[in-house]
Amino acid sequence: MSDTKRVYIRTFGCQMNVYDTGKMRALLEQGGYEHTTDMQQADLVIANTCSIREKAEVKLHSFLGEARRLKRERRSQPLTLAVAGCVAQQEGQTLLDRYADLDLVFGPDAVSSVTKLVTQADAGGQVLDTAFLDSTDYVFTNELDPAATDSITAFVTIQKGCDNKCTFCIVPSTRGVEVSRPSTEIIDEIKRLVDKGIKEITLIGQNVNSYGLKVPGELNFSQLLYAVSDVDGVERIRYTTSHPRDMGDDVVQAYRDLPKLTSFLHLPVQSGSNAVLRRMKRFYTREVYLEVVSKLRDARPDIVLSSDFIVGFPGETDEDFEQTMSLLSEVRFQSSYSFKYSQRPGTPALRLVDRTPVDPAVAGARLTRLQHLQRQIGVEEHRRLEGQSFDVLVEGPSRHDKGVVCGRTSAYKMVNFPGNLDLVGKTVPVTITRGFANTLRGERLYRAQ
Ligand code: 5AD
Ligand code: SF4
Repeated sequence: MSDTKRVYIRTFGCQMNVYDTGKMRALLEQGGYEHTTDMQQADLVIANTCSIREKAEVKLHSFLGEARRLKRERRSQPLTLAVAGCVAQQEGQTLLDRYADLDLVFGPDAVSSVTKLVTQADAGGQVLDTAFLDSTDYVFTNELDPAATDSITAFVTIQKGCDNKCTFCIVPSTRGVEVSRPSTEIIDEIKRLVDKGIKEITLIGQNVNSYGLKVPGELNFSQLLYAVSDVDGVERIRYTTSHPRDMGDDVVQAYRDLPKLTSFLHLPVQSGSNAVLRRMKRFYTREVYLEVVSKLRDARPDIVLSSDFIVGFPGETDEDFEQTMSLLSEVRFQSSYSFKYSQRPGTPALRLVDRTPVDPAVAGARLTRLQHLQRQIGVEEHRRLEGQSFDVLVEGPSRHDKGVVCGRTSAYKMVNFPGNLDLVGKTVPVTITRGFANTLRGERLYRAQ
């Protein structure tokens, strides 16, 4: 048995969790843990969990069954088993009671204490840390994820938590109130990433548009975009997730002023019906949403939009759903994530479920129709690009074809085209030869000098 300990982290859910996993890797590496992709080799297994929909939780329980079996089979080398993330925050002690083999359960706010918590768990007894930290105590981890720099693109967190109370959403109860990370720390992390070869920065938060508003003297979100754009070496800026209500004219203006801000925006609408939006407590109407889209398209005519939809929200009628379908046709999102409404513990919408449930079969049929229309629009939009040329930032080899590389346009469209790996990290012009539902095929364009 070697002296170095190994950690295996399985990440479920959103970019926030991917980012937290990276931070845990960085901290544990300092604490003497090497990262492994083989759970069989691990001394420490962490499941970083998501509870946004029921399905994500089901996956966790099957994973824990597997990890527990491994722990029980171990003779010589002990295994420490931990659950982090949103399910840990939500279920806390219940998880420890249900799985006697679990050593440690900790929520998103305790990520920065991971090394200390693991040491505590190794000393014996089950350890639980699901305390919420407020803005004065919360620490954003500044260590760089060792894996982040293998790529040319990196996430940078700008806030944690969410102050909105969308009635379907469990996030406010798993990630707590919104806390903005100081802009000086954000810019410093971006500079360090750029020094390591990163070219594209994605700013992440649950509701990025409200960045900084609660902190006197702090930049607001649009000012942060300008500050990031001023960092030498940053070539592209993206961000997620935006709330349509908070998409102000200053952010729209940034699309006119900042060429580094990419022509892609994920702007979740959830529903096209005002009655449903009201019950979701989204605080915008269909009309307001369409107005924001129109302003964005004025500022940046080639902007590409994607969205999230929930179908079968309590009380959604056939007419409500048709409103969602017509909104999709009107905006013509390039792509979207769509989900059947899933009941989440402790969320306000649960009260509506009893009164006005939607038959799951009806919700399923609606989801199928929505996804079918989305796919059709996605292909049509991509076919329109055939013959046009775009600058593509090359990310790496294509997953499927040898001799083919893949990269993204400013509008975040994935393009595969014949080329060598020495193109990775470079931006080259590519002509689109074929549009598919999710990707584009192209040929490198050699411009006359
Ligand atoms: N049921 C279904 N979808 C949900 N989402 C969030 N909560 C729920 C829920 N209870 C979806 C929303 C959100 C995305 C991240 O997940 O569309 O934008
Ligand atoms: Fe959830 Fe709404 Fe906050 Fe997004 S904005 S995390 S949907 S409460």
